[in-house]
Amino acid sequence: MKATKSGNLLLIGFMGVGKSTLAKELAKELKTICLDTDKIIENMENKKIKNIFNIKGEEYFRELEQEVAIWLEKNVKNSIISTGGGFIAVGNLKKIGKIIYLKSSFDGIIKRIENHPKSKEKLAKRPLLQDKKKAKELFKKRGDVYKKLADITINVEKYKNRKEITKEIIKLINIC
Ligand code: S3P
Repeated sequence: MKATKSGNLLLIGFMGVGKSTLAKELAKELKTICLDTDKIIENMENKKIKNIFNIKGEEYFRELEQEVAIWLEKNVKNSIISTGGGFIAVGNLKKIGKIIYLKSSFDGIIKRIENHPKSKEKLAKRPLLQDKKKAKELFKKRGDVYKKLADITINVEKYKNRKEITKEIIKLINIC
């Protein structure tokens, strides 16, 4: 992999696009570790994301994301980092690592969740995906933001499976 300052790869994209799954696969292939911003926040608060939203509210959750972003920038190197769909609002995103945007259509994302064996669980844990109409508006609003922040954009719907997406990402990070 071409060296960036931190050596980190940061996966961004809408809820349910497959960031965590791909981060694990990439970490395995690149023989490094993967971190997940939502998991870090759940550990910090000792609560599930859904409960943080319910009890403390979204604004509080966004503050935690910013805290995590600063911690990642200062302390994490040569890792794969999977982010929550709204993590792109943190002020120092570009300083954390090379940014890979996993792009998909809204329908593709919904289909991916619905086809998952644990689809109910996948949906229930995401407060901002409960109302499909609102989620689609959020999707439209964020599309350009993801694109502008990305060093590499991968249209995940073009590939057969996650192995192929992983292969493509590894190819691209070596040339970008
Ligand atoms: C959010 C995405 C979620 C999680 C939280 C908010 C968002 O992560 O961080 O529910 O604002 O898009 P995933 O992208 O892993 O679903």
